[in-house]
Amino acid sequence: MEHETLDTSPATGPEHALYYTDDLIENLQLRWGEGLLSPGGAEELRRMLGKAEIDGLHVLDFGCGIGGYDALLVENHGAGHVTGVDIDEASLAVADRMRRQRRLQDRLDFVHVSPGPLPFQDRTFDTVFTKDSIVDLPEKAPVFDEMFRVARPGAWIFLSDWFRSEAPFTEEMRAWATEGGETYEMDTLKSAAAALSAAGFTQIETDDRNGWFRDFARDEYQRLKGPLFDTYVARFGRSQAETSVENARIRALLADQGQLRPGHVRGRKP
Ligand SMILES: C[S@@+](CC[C@H](N)C(=O)[O-])C[C@H]1O[C@@H](n2cnc3c(N)ncnc32)[C@H](O)[C@@H]1O
Repeated sequence: MEHETLDTSPATGPEHALYYTDDLIENLQLRWGEGLLSPGGAEELRRMLGKAEIDGLHVLDFGCGIGGYDALLVENHGAGHVTGVDIDEASLAVADRMRRQRRLQDRLDFVHVSPGPLPFQDRTFDTVFTKDSIVDLPEKAPVFDEMFRVARPGAWIFLSDWFRSEAPFTEEMRAWATEGGETYEMDTLKSAAAALSAAGFTQIETDDRNGWFRDFARDEYQRLKGPLFDTYVARFGRSQAETSVENARIRALLADQGQLRPGHVRGRKP
């Protein structure tokens, strides 16, 4: 989820093949790290997985973006193979380059998908993973049903997403969540857990990451207006650099208000 429109072509939303422009991909990686289109990196990934062992397992990553988390699943957590799926071909092209550069061709593959049923047989994957991609979906239940279908019995599901609080949106939150004519389809952590349970997953656990994100977002705002600002001006122009700073300021505010609450949900297919 990222609200910065970095080119002048119409931003028609995440299903638009050009949503993740080269500039947006670079902009996000500069602040969040190589391969990452969502914040947190290796530490958040470790926290998502908890004590679960995925050594040697075949993982599905739904909404893999440019594949940075997939490389970490293999390199840091010993996943046997990760299959990343995404609707955005430009992101998948970057992911494909990355897997060659990191010599992970045998352990990673990336599949372009369309919204709808996943192109895999029942019980294909040992583990399902998704980071900060469900928020893009207006209808989440059919995707959770698909994740359940393609998971083997005993498979873990690890989900991270941007959640909202139960409280009505503040003015700033409403503006942010509908910026650019789009509305992000934000759930609460509780309703996401209930939806995974309705899909058939059991042993559901949740982890509200608002506390971590408050500090993270504040730090990101400071970095963008401080040490990173000149790099952003040189790379994207002053106007875009200022937009990035302002968006970071708003995100930090929304986190402080408790409105924007990244969180994790974990479960298991019986
Ligand atoms: C914020 S990015 C996160 C990418 C990656 N998981 C990460 O954390 O770096 C959200 C991703 O979800 C993808 N996405 C959105 N709707 C999707 C769908 N219906 N099927 C597959 N991917 C989707 C987007 O194209 C985008 O790459």
